Amino acid sequence: MPDEIIEVCVLAAGMGSRMRSSRPKVLQHLAGRPLLTHILGTLKRLDPDRVHVVIGQEAEQVRTAFKHDASVNWVLQQEQLGTGHAVMQVVEEFSPDARVLILLSDAPLISLDTLKAMLQLDCDLGVLSVDMENPTNYGRIIRDDSGAVTAIVEERDATDEQRKIPEINTGGMVARASLLKQWLAQLDCDNDQKEYLLTDIVSIAAESGCKVAAYKTSEVIEVTGINNFEQLANLERDLQRKKASELMENGVHIVDPARFDLRGEVVTGKDVRIDINVILEGKVELADGVEIGPNCTIKDCTIGANTVIKANSVLDEAIIEADCRVGPFARLRPGTHLKKEVAVGNFVEIKKSTLGEGTKASHLSYLGDATIGASVNIGAGTITCNYDGVNKFETHIEANVFVGSNSALVAPVTIGEGSTIGAGSTITRDVEKEVLAVGRGKQRSISNWKRPVKKNQ
Ligand code: UD1
Ligand code: CA
Repeated sequence: MPDEIIEVCVLAAGMGSRMRSSRPKVLQHLAGRPLLTHILGTLKRLDPDRVHVVIGQEAEQVRTAFKHDASVNWVLQQEQLGTGHAVMQVVEEFSPDARVLILLSDAPLISLDTLKAMLQLDCDLGVLSVDMENPTNYGRIIRDDSGAVTAIVEERDATDEQRKIPEINTGGMVARASLLKQWLAQLDCDNDQKEYLLTDIVSIAAESGCKVAAYKTSEVIEVTGINNFEQLANLERDLQRKKASELMENGVHIVDPARFDLRGEVVTGKDVRIDINVILEGKVELADGVEIGPNCTIKDCTIGANTVIKANSVLDEAIIEADCRVGPFARLRPGTHLKKEVAVGNFVEIKKSTLGEGTKASHLSYLGDATIGASVNIGAGTITCNYDGVNKFETHIEANVFVGSNSALVAPVTIGEGSTIGAGSTITRDVEKEVLAVGRGKQRSISNWKRPVKKNQ
């Protein structure tokens, strides 16, 4: 279909009242992203001439959430009088000889292959159908004795006999714009729900002698409609199971695929092992031999070969090079860069800081706005005091420094190469190379000192 104009119309005006949320349904999250983001992402790859999205309930919330996406033509459906009524709001915008794909925003996982297959259908009106084990609540595809599609009947309007039909309407349709316009003009709301049902165009088209065809997919996950949180949770699990399977096929050892969540994209090397309850978000890269312990959340990170992230660590926008040990209970915030063979232990928080090769911060520390050289030892309880209540300042710790436990390094400050900071020091001035710096009250011994005693009642 070379010079054909393709336009897509996504219906997203409903609130999703069955979710009882103040957020419109299309902004509810699946795999960490709004439902609408999933469809728009697939449409980017289809690359049609235009994409229209019909919004209505909380339209401003939706528009604001997608304000960076200039490729969408937002169309307002002031009152939600049904799926047919929704398409009526756009029909004047279609170029008359365009082929129009209609999609429902509450079936977010429709694939590019399915969209292409629909566009290949040789007919005046194409519908996307699927056989469902439990077709309850979906519209049923009605066929005549020859197998031709003649109508779609909604659950509430269906007879008991029709309700037994397993083939359902997924909501996806394809038709020439000019024909769509003719059929929509014949819709009425003379039905139980008093709505203009898009599904009624099927019998209108069939009765006027137009050819109606169905493309039946076998991928139920692609066409499952989300109406409530139960269905959203089920789809989330199905989707995550699929993502986990793909990773396992690529050789990733996922200890329990039922307890794995990918909310973005991950690139993995060989012999990567991911323990239970790990959440990967954004863009994550795990090089060969990386091990992620249980209960870790890792967002937008690059992790180098053979690095081990131990249990309960939370990593956000960090670059971690090869052979590092992180956690358990480590928190790496944006701008953290760990060079090779760094060890970061429990209850260590790092922000906007670089730790040089072989450096260790094994327990209870805050390192912020710091540049730390190679082979440094950061003692337990070390704090870089980077904030004076108004401004932030930097700390520089050169190579081979030993910072004794419970030291406060008040920035801006530089600790020279090879120096030692005595435990419990508060360092407010630069420390030169190769010295011992001690900044604390001198220890005294007071004899004949009596401990307080309890007052008589
Ligand atoms: C619809 C179909 C049903 C199909 C099912 C698949 C109709 C009449 N029924 O039913 O045959 O089996 O989807 O999931 O089409 N919307 C608007 N404006 C409106 C009403 C709805 O934009 O006035 C949008 C909603 O935001 C939603 C979509 O259309 O994304 C479908 O609406 P919904 O109410 O969920 O339809 P279903 O009852 O699920
Ligand atoms: Ca629905």
